[in-house]
Amino acid sequence: MQAAFVKQDGYQCGYCTPGQICSAVSVLEEIKQGIPSHAQADLMAAPQPTGAEMREWMSGNICRCGAYSNIAEAMADVAGARA
Ligand code: FES
Repeated sequence: MQAAFVKQDGYQCGYCTPGQICSAVSVLEEIKQGIPSHAQADLMAAPQPTGAEMREWMSGNICRCGAYSNIAEAMADVAGARA
């Protein structure tokens, strides 16, 4: 995940980056475990690492620099999905 953040410019000042990376790793693990989010229409279906799903899971992580789209790209890289 750290390498993906570097590759996708997932940070600017870096203040939020440690928390973003820890959350991103946990989010992908929870999606893999089948834990649904509020973004999921069918709570009985297995969650997928979609852009909407990852953004919902990460919505509590604030980045004052606004690097959100690049953070989503980094997560998609790791998940093998599209942001
Ligand atoms: S990179 Fe500056 S607050 Fe997120």
